[in-house]
Amino acid sequence: MASPLGPKYKLNNGIDMPAVGLGVFHSEPEETVAAVSSAIAAGYRLIDTAAAYMNEQQVGEGIRAAGIARDEVFVTTKVWMSDYGPEQTPRAFELSLRKLGLDFLDLYLIHWPVPSAFDATVAAYQAAIKLLADGRVRAIGVCNFDASDLDKLIQRTGHIPAVNQVELHPFFNQRALREADDSHGIITQAWSPIGGIKRYGEKAKASKEVQDPLSHPTVALLAKKYRKTPAQIILRWQIELGTSPIPKSVRPARIAENIDIFDFALTPGEVLAIDALDTGRRGGPDPQLVTVQSFAITAPQT
Ligand SMILES: NC(=O)c1ccc[n+]([C@@H]2O[C@H](COP(=O)([O-])OP(=O)(O)OC[C@H]3O[C@@H](n4cnc5c(N)ncnc54)[C@H](OP(=O)(O)O)[C@@H]3O)[C@@H](O)[C@H]2O)c1
Repeated sequence: MASPLGPKYKLNNGIDMPAVGLGVFHSEPEETVAAVSSAIAAGYRLIDTAAAYMNEQQVGEGIRAAGIARDEVFVTTKVWMSDYGPEQTPRAFELSLRKLGLDFLDLYLIHWPVPSAFDATVAAYQAAIKLLADGRVRAIGVCNFDASDLDKLIQRTGHIPAVNQVELHPFFNQRALREADDSHGIITQAWSPIGGIKRYGEKAKASKEVQDPLSHPTVALLAKKYRKTPAQIILRWQIELGTSPIPKSVRPARIAENIDIFDFALTPGEVLAIDALDTGRRGGPDPQLVTVQSFAITAPQT
């Protein structure tokens, strides 16, 4: 097993979180065990799953297959919006833990704000605060929150999330939201960090436009300069920004490639050149328009 690769970020409650993690959205259950164990073998120490990904059990199996001590791996899962509520969220948490085969979690995230049912979103977060106080989870946070959602949540609960996990890649770099997160001491975690949503998302499928940051000439030029792949250039850019990328792959070679980004650095000018690729257009859903009916997903109840 390779030594852990990359720095750790200190969360606002003092907990250390590895900067780079493996994402497992769209990893089929039958591929997930091998993906997780090969990631740990390659030096990853953070795995990002969710109840809605339907592969928590296989994530747990992959961690055990890797033969790593529990306290050496940082495990994140998320509560799905159909489970927001004072009784529902703790029940969903226990189910996630049982599936993962763990007795505590490192990070529990609220998967989406539901603007039209913000009371339920707040209730889920209040339940997470209780889980944190009870020592069932080491840190809690949110996903897909904008600056005003964060302000409302903090005002209503008196608690500052440790992490805000949002769509973030060269074509949608979330500068303003990163600044808002920073102002609260919240770590910004990047989903679709190499632009996956721009390839598999509904908007990408409906459009004829090529929207792949991996094939942008600016990224290709830097890849040539540093003898790295486009994915490695973009993931290194994430590290230079101070974000936490969680690239998904089920292929061992790509899994190893995506964390092999700590033997070079981009110059400030190169970081700005990638920043300049921002289009202001997200590939995924606009969180302000999300409702419980937006996704054809109901989190598993057993
Ligand atoms: N909180 C949220 O609402 C939310 C939403 C979406 C995602 N996420 C999390 O963020 C993680 C990552 O985001 P994502 O899966 O949307 O997108 P991503 O990591 O940017 O991209 C993943 C896609 O890129 C491919 N890929 C991986 N490494 C590559 C490489 N080195 N070169 C070329 N292609 C490569 C993968 O295919 P292969 O598997 O075939 O390699 C997959 O199709 C998810 O898995 C999930 O854990 C969270």
